[in-house]
Amino acid sequence: MAKKSTAKRATTKSLTTISIAVTTICALFAAWLLGRGSKSSVDTSHSLPPLPQSNSSSSDLRCEDQSYKTELISLDPLVIYIRDFFSTQEINNIVQAGENRFNPSVVNQNGKMIQNPYRTSWSAALPAEEPAVQCVLERSRRFLGTVLDPNEDEMGVPQLVRYIEGQEYNLHHDWMRIPQAAFDGSPRSFNRVASFFVILQDTCKGGETWFPFIKAVSPQPKENEEGRLWREHEDGGLAFKPVAGNGIFWVNLFPNGTGDTRTVHAGLPVTGGLKTAMNIWPRQYRPDSQ
Ligand SMILES: *[C@@H]1O[C@H](CO)[C@@H](O)[C@H](O)[C@H]1NC(C)=O
Ligand SMILES: *[C@@H]1O[C@H](CO)[C@@H](O)[C@H](O)[C@H]1NC(C)=O
Repeated sequence: MAKKSTAKRATTKSLTTISIAVTTICALFAAWLLGRGSKSSVDTSHSLPPLPQSNSSSSDLRCEDQSYKTELISLDPLVIYIRDFFSTQEINNIVQAGENRFNPSVVNQNGKMIQNPYRTSWSAALPAEEPAVQCVLERSRRFLGTVLDPNEDEMGVPQLVRYIEGQEYNLHHDWMRIPQAAFDGSPRSFNRVASFFVILQDTCKGGETWFPFIKAVSPQPKENEEGRLWREHEDGGLAFKPVAGNGIFWVNLFPNGTGDTRTVHAGLPVTGGLKTAMNIWPRQYRPDSQ
C-alpha cells in the first residue's frame, strides 16, 4: 500500500495520474443557453433566495446587477469569457474578507488534501456571510440559468487563490475523478459541474490561465498586443491574461456526469507582482449508484 502511494507520488508530473479537486467542475449546454435566453426579467428571481440589500450611503456595498459582458470562446466544451463580472467595490470587499485566511494551496492526491510543488500558490476559503461574496455567488448562480437544480445543487464554498513571483499551478482539471460524498450524510455525491475563475488583482507579470485543448469559435480580436485579453498559445489552445474584474466560465462535466478532460488548464507562472483570483465551483449532486 505504502509502496503504491510512493510510486503514485513520483508520477505527480503526469497529468493522467493526478486528481486535483481544488480547482475544477459540465452540464446541459443547451439547457443552460435556453434557460438564460428565455428567462424574462420578471421571473428570474422567482425561485431564488432574496438578494442581500443595503439602502444606505454609496460607500456601502449594493448588491446590484453588474452589467457584465460575455464573449463566447468555445461551444464544446462551453467556455465563456466574462468582462466586468465583479465591481471594484466587490473586489475590494472580497479581497479584504480573505486577506487573513491565506494558507498554502493543497491538491487532492489519492483522496488526501496535501501540499505539492505542482501547486505553489496560496488559497483562502471565503466567509459566506460577507455580503460581497453573497452578491457575486448570486450573480454566478443566475448566470448558470437552469444548470443547477434549486432543490439539490448548491454554489459551493468560494475560494481565493493568490500567486506571487515564481508561483504557478500546473495542468489540472477542476472536476473530481471520484465525486465527493455529500457532507450531510445523504446517499448522494457531488462534482463541480462548472467553474468560474474571476481575477481580482492583476498587478503581475505572467500568470495567464492556459487551456491547451480549447479552440476558439472565432479568431482572437484584432487588438494590439497590450489590449489583448487572450491569445493562441504556442503549445496549443488559448491563454487568458489576468484582468481584474474579468472571469472565465466553463463547463466541467458531460451531461452523464463524467468529467471533460478538455477542460484541463494551468495557472502559468507569475514572474513578478501579484495575482489574486476567486474560484467558484457550483456543485451538482447525483444519487450514489452503488
Ligand atoms: C433601510 O431603510 C429603511 C427605511 O428607510 C430603514 O428603516 C432601515 O433601517 C434601513 N436599513 C439599513 C440597514 O440601513
Ligand atoms: C459520458 O459522456 C461522454 C461524452 O459523451 C462520453 O465520452 C463518456 O464515455 C460517457 N461516460 C460514461 C461513463 O458513459
